[in-house]
Parts: sequence; C-alpha cells; structure tokens
Amino acid sequence: MTRSGFFVVLEGPEGSGKSTLIGPLAQRMRESRVDPIIVREPGGTRAAEIARQALLDPEHPVGPVAELFLYLAARADLVETIIQPALASGRVVLSDRFALSTEAYQMVGRRLDPALVRAANHAATQGITPDLTLILDLTPEVGQARQLAAGKRQDRLDRESLEFHRRVVEYYLAVEGEGVRHLDGSLPPDQLLQAAWSVVQAAAPSVFRVAVG
Ligand SMILES: Nc1ncnc2c1ncn2[C@@H]1O[C@H](COP(=O)(O)OP(=O)(O)OP(=O)(O)O)[C@@H](O)[C@H]1O
Ligand SMILES: [Mg+2]
Repeated sequence: MTRSGFFVVLEGPEGSGKSTLIGPLAQRMRESRVDPIIVREPGGTRAAEIARQALLDPEHPVGPVAELFLYLAARADLVETIIQPALASGRVVLSDRFALSTEAYQMVGRRLDPALVRAANHAATQGITPDLTLILDLTPEVGQARQLAAGKRQDRLDRESLEFHRRVVEYYLAVEGEGVRHLDGSLPPDQLLQAAWSVVQAAAPSVFRVAVG
C-alpha cells in the first residue's frame, strides 16, 4: 500500500495523560503548519461510536472475545473510513490509542490467545502501523489516583483489578521497536508536551519544520 502521510499514536495506561496531551501536541503541529487529523479510539465513526457505547457500558458487560471484536470493529471502520484515506492523501494523523492498546488490554490484560489477537488486529488495521508511537509510562497507582481525583466515571476497564492494570503497565513498559518512544508520564503537562514535541520533530523533521516568520 502506498502511503505518504505520517501516523502518530499516543499510548499508555489509564490516566497517563494521552487525552490531555493530544490537543496541545496538535497545536504545536499547527504552529509548524501541519494540520493533523485527530482521532480517538474506540470512536470516530458512527459504527465505532456505537461499539464504544457497547464496550464502556458497565451495566451490560460483554465477554472478553466480544470485547476484542467490538474494539476491532471500531478500529476497522476508523481505519477504512478515516485513517487510511488520510494517510494516503499525505495527511498527518494523530490518534489517542491504536492497535497496541488491544495487545496491552485484550491480549495481556484479558489473557486472550496472542495468535488470535495479533491476526485479528492485523485484519482490522489493514496492516497499517504507526510511524511513531509515544508511550506515556506511569504506574497504575498514579494513573488511578489521577482518574479518581478528576472524578472520571469509571468504565469497565478502569474497574478491573490492580493486578490487571499491573500486567497492562508492565507490557507497555517493555514495548520497544522501530518508531516506539517512551516518555515519562509523571512529568508535569508542559514538560511532557515539550518532550513529546521534541520526539515528534526528531522523528520527522521534514514534516514538522519549525515555523519561521
Ligand atoms: N502530565 C500530567 N501530570 C499530572 N496530571 C495529569 C497529567 N496529564 C494528565 N493529568 C491528569 O490526569 C487525569 C487523566 O488524564 P487523561 O485523561 O489525559 O489520561 P488518559 O491517558 O487519556 O486516560 P484514559 O486512558 O483513561 O483515557 C486528568 O485528570 C488529567 O488532568
Ligand atoms: Mg483518554
């Protein structure tokens, strides 16, 4: 598949600051004359928002396999209708979570069969992988404390055991590979933004030029 855009994904456990970071990071991009397409998972299309509602409803829980496929249905629709066309037309896409979240939560957290999760995830993404993944490292205790302090309504994954969240965090901490960069999620927001922006610029200096004049 030909691609000319640039795909940046924010990952990390609950409360690590992804949704807080994404707006200011997008603003830095705009200041360097790049207008990113911003998406969050699960969601972003009608079908994906319906899947999101089904997934996050604590009153009507679904089992681990149904959960996997609801996330992947949402991702498949988002990739097909927004992410793939945007990248193909040369746009920068900035996403709050992507396929790595499914590995962390459904494969490692829920202990689903890795071969199943990886194959199904690959189908949902059409093989599209991020050019840059920023993982915000944070302990589950601090993440949960932040969510509680902010009065966030806890969804089904938030309510999972500390043991579940520890597995998720350990998995995130160990991820490495091309295009994967870890950031210290315990930094104050302005310092985290600066660190993230430096990494983004270094990853694609020809895309994110510093604005002049
Ligand atoms: N760098 C930071 N330092 C301190 N507190 C922060 C920081 N970033 C975010 N917070 C606070 O932590 C809480 C969770 O942040 P946020 O919603 O951005 O996390 P998230 O990674 O998107 O979580 P989730 O995976 O549950 O969506 C919010 O109350 C936010 O104000
Ligand atoms: Mg968030």
